[in-house]
Amino acid sequence: MKYVLNALAALVLLSLPAVAADDGYKNSGMSLEGIGKSYMGREIAFVMGHEGAGWLERGSREQEEGTSKLLPLLGLKPTDTVADIGAGTGYFSFRLSAVVNQGKVFAEDIQQEMLDMIKARKDKGEGKNIVTVLGGINDPRLPPNAIDLILLVDAYHEFSYPREMGQAMVRALKPGGRIALVEYRAEDDSVPIKELHRMSVAQAKKEMAAVGLNWVSTDSTTLPWQHVMIFQKPGA
Ligand SMILES: C[S@@+](CC[C@H](N)C(=O)[O-])C[C@H]1O[C@@H](n2cnc3c(N)ncnc32)[C@H](O)[C@@H]1O
Repeated sequence: MKYVLNALAALVLLSLPAVAADDGYKNSGMSLEGIGKSYMGREIAFVMGHEGAGWLERGSREQEEGTSKLLPLLGLKPTDTVADIGAGTGYFSFRLSAVVNQGKVFAEDIQQEMLDMIKARKDKGEGKNIVTVLGGINDPRLPPNAIDLILLVDAYHEFSYPREMGQAMVRALKPGGRIALVEYRAEDDSVPIKELHRMSVAQAKKEMAAVGLNWVSTDSTTLPWQHVMIFQKPGA
């Protein structure tokens, strides 16, 4: 009798519908700037196509975004290995290359056309320590436990699989390695950037914590439009 009851209980358990784990993704309905999908309550923005490369390299960027003030905030050593994920034209990859001149820069993007622009500059002799990497939409294809710092400038909010990208970035970081998440300030109405291309500190902290990263610091005043948020992989 006991065996029959146990077997019945097992059958009941097996026939229960599997409860899907909440991965944070929801169908949000298509808006003008979004892909129709949200993550942890944030609608994900469209990827900026390589046709917009000129905007990334615009002459007014330094004056508008204070780009030369960013890298000194990152506490990099010349021997560090860094990854510029969502590198675009390599605006920051080449600047990073000069700072970690005894180390290495992985310039990663999902658009081959962007990487080709970086390669064209490398062919002219610039950025000798830059290695270009064609990533996938859910995997930056970086070596594990290899990176001291990942730089994400104006890119993370476009990731269509932010959870998987976050998990993969954590795998690529060395223990104690850091992510510098640079995003236009959602909390500041004076920032002239469309809504889905900005992030709040609260949202960023929530999403980074979901992949096991610890918040270290937020600087919302050095750059005119952007937060610089530092997160760390445990285990230093
Ligand atoms: C607005 S651009 C910023 C480029 C660069 N970080 C800069 O500030 O000049 C965003 C870049 O992120 C890239 N991107 C979008 N989704 C990505 C993903 N899942 N993995 C890697 N790069 C991605 C896009 O292809 C694009 O080049």
